[in-house]
Amino acid sequence: SPAAGQIKFENVTFGFPGAEKPVIADASFVAEPGKTTAIIGSTGAGKTVLLNLMLRLYDPQEGSITIDGAPVDALTRAQLARTVSLVPQRPYLFGGTIASNLRFGRTDANDAELWEALRVAQGEDFVREKELGLEEPVSQGGTNVSGGQRQRLSIARALVAKPLVYLFDDSFSALDVATDARLRAALPDATEGATTIIVAQRVSTITEADQILVMEGGEIVGRGTHDELLATNEVYQEIVRS
Ligand code: CTP
Ligand code: MG
Repeated sequence: SPAAGQIKFENVTFGFPGAEKPVIADASFVAEPGKTTAIIGSTGAGKTVLLNLMLRLYDPQEGSITIDGAPVDALTRAQLARTVSLVPQRPYLFGGTIASNLRFGRTDANDAELWEALRVAQGEDFVREKELGLEEPVSQGGTNVSGGQRQRLSIARALVAKPLVYLFDDSFSALDVATDARLRAALPDATEGATTIIVAQRVSTITEADQILVMEGGEIVGRGTHDELLATNEVYQEIVRS
């Protein structure tokens, strides 16, 4: 079958070398193309590690991770980078320009594509306000760009790359509620057909997700839609209340 971006975890267990307890314990789920899978859970639950496993920043001790049926460890890191775009929890900008940062995942993107990605990522206005626009210099680490702007540029960079799989690691929690809502309204069209996995802090960010995974202590302790989890899952109910 043609490449589609289905991600499948089967009984994945991962622990850092020397640690007693695994950080991810027996995790199984499928994230389907064209659907949004959300991951929610308290700090330290293992959400970032789970995303990093898909990019092979680490390899699990047990279980398998596949993309469209192919084990991720059979792909080169370059192949993986073309298939999966991660917006990291702490986005990183390179020394260069706004444009060169946005083209990091796909160097042949034209300016119109960069502006379209910025529009979706709610970063268009602040780039337009820059004297040099897309050609505005960015310092190493993005220290001349605010945290929220860095996050929006990082989201736009992922959109420019047009991957099969998007991983958003807590990418919306620093946004104010109105910006978060606008971004989520624009995202489905921009990522149509792709597999989208969103780690979130706010329940309001993920109520529309096709599937929500609830993580606690490295385990997936609940899965379902918002309504299903609200009715049945104590951990989720607690997150909603907090
Ligand atoms: N951890 C570790 N070494 C690392 C990264 C993480 O030992 N290099 C541990 C953390 O201390 C934590 C667990 O792995 O106990 C899961 O970490 P992480 O996936 O980063 O947790 P998140 O669920 O992403 O937490 P947060 O919401 O704070 O981002
Ligand atoms: Mg994290």
